Amino acid sequence: MKQAAGIHLRGTVALPGDKSIAHRAALFASIAEGTSVIEHYPAGGDCQHTLDLLEAIGVRVERQHDRVSVSGKGYLGFSAPSSTLYAGNSGTTLRMACGLLAPQAFDSHLIGDESLERRPMRRVIDPLVRMGARIESTDGRAPLQIRGGRSLKGILYRSPVASAQVKTAVLLAGLHAEGDTCVQEPLPSRNHTELALMRFGVPVSRDEDGIRITGGSKLQSTRIRIPGDISSAAFFIVGAAVLPGSSLLVTDVGLNPTRTAFIEVLQSMGARIVIEEKHEQDGEVIGTVRVEGAELAGVEVPTEHVPGLIDEIPALAVAASFAHGETIIRGASELRVKESDRIHALVTGLRALNVDVEELTDGLRVRGGRPMRGASLDSYGDHRIAMAWGVAALGVDGTCQIKGKSAANVSFPEFWETLDQAVA
Ligand code: S3P
Repeated sequence: MKQAAGIHLRGTVALPGDKSIAHRAALFASIAEGTSVIEHYPAGGDCQHTLDLLEAIGVRVERQHDRVSVSGKGYLGFSAPSSTLYAGNSGTTLRMACGLLAPQAFDSHLIGDESLERRPMRRVIDPLVRMGARIESTDGRAPLQIRGGRSLKGILYRSPVASAQVKTAVLLAGLHAEGDTCVQEPLPSRNHTELALMRFGVPVSRDEDGIRITGGSKLQSTRIRIPGDISSAAFFIVGAAVLPGSSLLVTDVGLNPTRTAFIEVLQSMGARIVIEEKHEQDGEVIGTVRVEGAELAGVEVPTEHVPGLIDEIPALAVAASFAHGETIIRGASELRVKESDRIHALVTGLRALNVDVEELTDGLRVRGGRPMRGASLDSYGDHRIAMAWGVAALGVDGTCQIKGKSAANVSFPEFWETLDQAVA
């Protein structure tokens, strides 16, 4: 990787399809009537695990490059898997699959990789069990055994965490439950499930109890083009925002307002980011973002924004390290249970780079602006940490060795090549 003081990012960046939207498109296509076509499906490992899981329960999936067609089975047309279902590193696959599989007639056994099997699953098990499902876990973690043949009842679920994965698992189960299912969250999480369900023809309403669907609603196959992943774009946006002389265009990127809070935070730090154009595509907002390098100043990130930028905190922490003054991120204890303990991973790596950073139980405090020096950095096997180090390394004095760079493959296999091309 090219690396030197004074480098910047230039040109146009094309992104893989949005991981969150792609998982949902594939899952909903599998229970729809008819064949759905999904374009710009991401190549990353996480989204492939969702397709593999669907194939293992009898869904016909055809993939040609980034075009995937999924022949829907209706809600109860799946067949019992002949072996264990493996979700790899993908929490979204595993948690959403619980909602899909809980009402099925057959048993399913679900596992993940070492990181995924450390992550909390009670958050989906508890509401599904309240609906009538039977799920056995290993102390609240995967491996999970889902017992089939249960009939589910709709519930009003007040989720203690703002999690789109939990919301989706409960709503997926609710599609085959008796009566209405309603999910309320402490703060709104990304709304791709609501938008995708509407795209597949399911009425979704929002009232004082939360997001509501009615059991028995049928899904109709559709065509969806997946927008570029804003969470992948975040690394390039931060890189261009902090490296003086940068001028970068990010095209065809998803700009769903439940995902763009990090852009507002960067703008409040003084970043020169302009949304040049936006329009609607298959129910989602998509557009073009221009970023120019500038001097940034630290800010306190409003805690109510945290669910809307949770995946962008590794990139934001890098921005904070280059910014003058103090940045405080709190209310983000969810970072402790992502693909790695991201608070610990960030604090350890930033300190090695000579950043003045304090570890908080639910976030971090960064006093930025100090000269940063090359160091050995660890991704902890976490894609977003690996990519954050890739961008940080561009602005430091000296060389960085990044352990576990290939972790980026789960969401953005082309990341290192794309970064190399943007470096000028
Ligand atoms: C996701 C939701 C978020 C996010 C994850 C993807 C989704 O997780 O961190 O990368 O696609 O629903 P939580 O639902 O646990 O907050």
